[in-house]
Amino acid sequence: MAISTQGRYTRTAKVLHWLVLVLLVAQYAIGWTMPHIGRNTPVSTLISLHFSIGVVILGLIVVRLIWRIIHGEPEAEAGIPPWQVHSARVIHWLLYLLLLVVPLLGWVNASYRGMPIMLFGLVPVPQLVGVHAAGWGSTGDIHTLVAEFGILPLVGLHVAAALYHYFIRRDRVLQRMLPGV
Ligand code: HEM
Ligand code: HEM
Repeated sequence: MAISTQGRYTRTAKVLHWLVLVLLVAQYAIGWTMPHIGRNTPVSTLISLHFSIGVVILGLIVVRLIWRIIHGEPEAEAGIPPWQVHSARVIHWLLYLLLLVVPLLGWVNASYRGMPIMLFGLVPVPQLVGVHAAGWGSTGDIHTLVAEFGILPLVGLHVAAALYHYFIRRDRVLQRMLPGV
């Protein structure tokens, strides 16, 4: 079943898409301004906010994925070369995958470091691995690496493609995801 027979995403898919974008912008801004996390770094407000927003992003991606699997995607725009349809699909699935893997790695790393995760200071989130559990020490480096050199270049390609469709091909691909269109 397609998300929409009129070739655009449903309101739910759009709200989730743009909400994740806003949260990701905040998440990178916080990630880059929070104190560097070392051996005995206390969980400051910014670090705690990074954990909380990251867990919320993870939850939203799970909801998005379930929505996507149940509803499928809208029919492709007429006249788009098949390679573009296929490469867009590959990038979308890679984004979904990395948006699951990156927060999970962060969560594992915070657990490994013994840093408590309190969702917005209110709800305790369980630790995923024991403190200094063998084998999990490099999760922090991988988390940062994939967040910066995996997600960001993919988003760059994704946004470039959206702008290419809007300004150069002048088709309605961007409008499929815009509110109210
Ligand atoms: C999509 C969601 C997330 C993104 C894009 C993200 C992004 C980042 C970035 C860019 C850094 C590097 C900061 C620096 O320059 O040093 C970082 C570090 C870190 N993040 Fe996240 N993060 C996310 C989710 C999470 C979650 C859910 C947690 C924990 C619950 C978390 C825990 C950490 C930790 C512990 C570090 C320090 C890693 C280290 O230096 O060893 N992150 N994150
Ligand atoms: C200014 C930034 C952005 C623009 C203009 C944009 C635009 C779009 C457009 C037009 C589509 C529909 C593509 C199609 O119909 O084939 C789409 C889908 C998608 N976007 Fe974005 N996007 C942006 C940011 C992001 C970010 C930051 C992410 C996640 C990291 C993201 C992840 C996705 C995913 C996963 C889909 C596929 C939806 C699905 O089929 O389930 N986008 N985006």
